[in-house]
Amino acid sequence: MSALIRSDLAELSPYKAEEPINLDHPIDKLDANEVAIDLPDWFKQKLGAIAQTEILANRYPDGEYLSLKKRLAEYTGVEPEQISLGNGSDELIRSLLIATCLSSKSENGRILVAEPTFSMYGILAQGLGIPVVRVPRLVQNFRIDLDAANKAIALGTIKAVCLVHPNSPTGNLLNSEELAWVRSLPENILVVIDEAYFEFSGQTLVPELPQHPNWLILRTFSKAFRLAAYRVGYAIANLELATALEKIRLPYNLPTISYIAAELAITHHQELLANIPEIKLERDHLYGEIQNLGIEVWQSDANFLYIRTNQDQEILISLKSQGTLIRQTGGGLRLTIGTPDQNQRTLARLRNLLKAN
Ligand SMILES: Cc1ncc(COP(=O)(O)O)c(C=O)c1O
Repeated sequence: MSALIRSDLAELSPYKAEEPINLDHPIDKLDANEVAIDLPDWFKQKLGAIAQTEILANRYPDGEYLSLKKRLAEYTGVEPEQISLGNGSDELIRSLLIATCLSSKSENGRILVAEPTFSMYGILAQGLGIPVVRVPRLVQNFRIDLDAANKAIALGTIKAVCLVHPNSPTGNLLNSEELAWVRSLPENILVVIDEAYFEFSGQTLVPELPQHPNWLILRTFSKAFRLAAYRVGYAIANLELATALEKIRLPYNLPTISYIAAELAITHHQELLANIPEIKLERDHLYGEIQNLGIEVWQSDANFLYIRTNQDQEILISLKSQGTLIRQTGGGLRLTIGTPDQNQRTLARLRNLLKAN
């Protein structure tokens, strides 16, 4: 059998998803950057009613998804034709890699990532046989090592630069120097700007898209919109790039219920996003409290905090045994901001652990 499978896949491990939630044993699930509170009942009831009356289960979804694209166009200030929808933004990452980096003729184009960052860029590229060039971030503030990035680009094999804004797991936005660098990248390099946490940061590069036909911006409904279970992401780009994504998209990639849920969420975005100021206040409060514990923690523009200690593994295991799940990634620990109660418990559990040592 193994002779059938590409030998380069042997080195690749599957994406290790966070622990599934078990409703019988409530835990503080702070490991996947979801919003801690489920959708409001009125939203679920509306969605349920639409599902019951409007979905014909025996029929394929509306394969164009035009009504959702129109709503997203209004929300983002672009044209509907500039949008492509994905089964989560993960699917769009794979699609954009297929559209730009895979080549049957010459060597596959490489992608550049600045680590630590969202691991799916590397995983999906490797799965497609696309080489990944990894440059570091400087540890003081997780700024990208631009000299290393420029050196890699000068070799002429980088086809796509993938940036997360604000970055996960480190929580920082691209700063002015990084932004100037991004703006200076040549048009023969695809620049992916992943704005999965846009609703928390309030910072977007969408208005600059008309000046940069090589930019592609990714967003998701999985975070601030609380629709992670429904798997909806979207890409915004110039017409040519968006059309390329549409060409390689699998037919009916979004289930009908998912695009209806996303459309409803956009229609009610003000209500659904109303708790963001509170999440940000909680985040900034938790940042101060963690700092008071003497733990190295970085300020964040998203809905999580990143910490590094010399006992990460111990903290991970101890928190888990006390009922708090966090994520170990990129040489540190990433904690999603939960409800005020969950955050207090995290702090108390951290405090206990540090006292015991
Ligand atoms: C930066 C970033 N991009 C993309 C995703 C994937 O989102 P989706 O659920 O839309 O596939 C995540 C999920 O954690 C993320 O952190």
